[in-house]
Amino acid sequence: MNYPNSRLRRLRYNSNIRSLVEDVHIKTSDLIYPVFVCEGENIKQEIKSLPGQFRYSIDNLLSLIEELISLNINSILLFGVSDKKDESGDIACDNKSIIPKAIKRIKEKYKNDILVIADLCNCSYTSHGHCGTIVDGDVDNDLTIKTLCKQAFTLAESGVDVIAPSDMMDGRTGIIRKELDNKKFHKIPIFPYSVKYASSFYGPFRGAVSNTLDKGDRKTHQMSFKNSSEYIREIEQDIYEGCDAIIIKPALSYLDIISKVKQKFNIPIIGYNVSGVYAMIKSASNEKLIDETEITLEILYSIKRAGASAIITYNAIEIAKKINDNNVL
Ligand code: PBG
Repeated sequence: MNYPNSRLRRLRYNSNIRSLVEDVHIKTSDLIYPVFVCEGENIKQEIKSLPGQFRYSIDNLLSLIEELISLNINSILLFGVSDKKDESGDIACDNKSIIPKAIKRIKEKYKNDILVIADLCNCSYTSHGHCGTIVDGDVDNDLTIKTLCKQAFTLAESGVDVIAPSDMMDGRTGIIRKELDNKKFHKIPIFPYSVKYASSFYGPFRGAVSNTLDKGDRKTHQMSFKNSSEYIREIEQDIYEGCDAIIIKPALSYLDIISKVKQKFNIPIIGYNVSGVYAMIKSASNEKLIDETEITLEILYSIKRAGASAIITYNAIEIAKKINDNNVL
């Protein structure tokens, strides 16, 4: 049917009719807030590379979680900030290291009122800043998995709800799954970053966890954005190895991949709206070139429309406030 019988604007003339026909929605429970946790007390220190985001000591983290729960944000993703570092990141396998300590305190206080997801990688804890143990100038796959398994076990013991390996070592999902199952943690889901590109969009994040690479890059383990179908094998392997949902990172710039994954695989997808996107929007909105919350909402909707069921976003708090006020666009 064509104009004038068909007039697509009939469904756009007022906000009630527009919302009646909209089919993509964001709920506060779709949002996962990434949080940086550091040692010390009463610390809420703004992160230079991520204005508006903070490093929290555990006491202040507990107050933040109170606020998140009151906004109906049900999930957090924890990153450790550690001044102490070593060659292989073993430091994070100690149950007195920052994230296991934080998880214990969170779970004591909030139990199941908040879902605690821990990012599992060594890069915040290695002296050279790489994601694992270096052998012959490169991250050694199998040695790195050994440390990751130990770290995963420590996280599980401390009460973590979900483990999210972000290292991109081959085979890590299956080996971590086995380790958790052997130690009676079969109920803990694994959400690997199955599709993680070697991206310049992570720049501001590295400042947040004081991670600088002495030399080299992450291209021998993270994926090349010049490949259009490599993601299929990554996901097939993770599903085969027992993952429960997958994370795709970055989400923006890779919406094509999210959409194809949604069509091809029956697995929940979580999109990560990463630090570089956050920082670009922040700068442009400081210059009054764009509206930070409106543009972020548009991006989050695009990630959902592409097929993600949840989104990791540094803007979770402002967005949740908008959703709670029924003021979403
Ligand atoms: C750790 C990790 C990174 C991010 C999440 N987990 C950095 C990296 O892999 O280099 C980036 C998140 C962001 O940019 O917001 N491996």
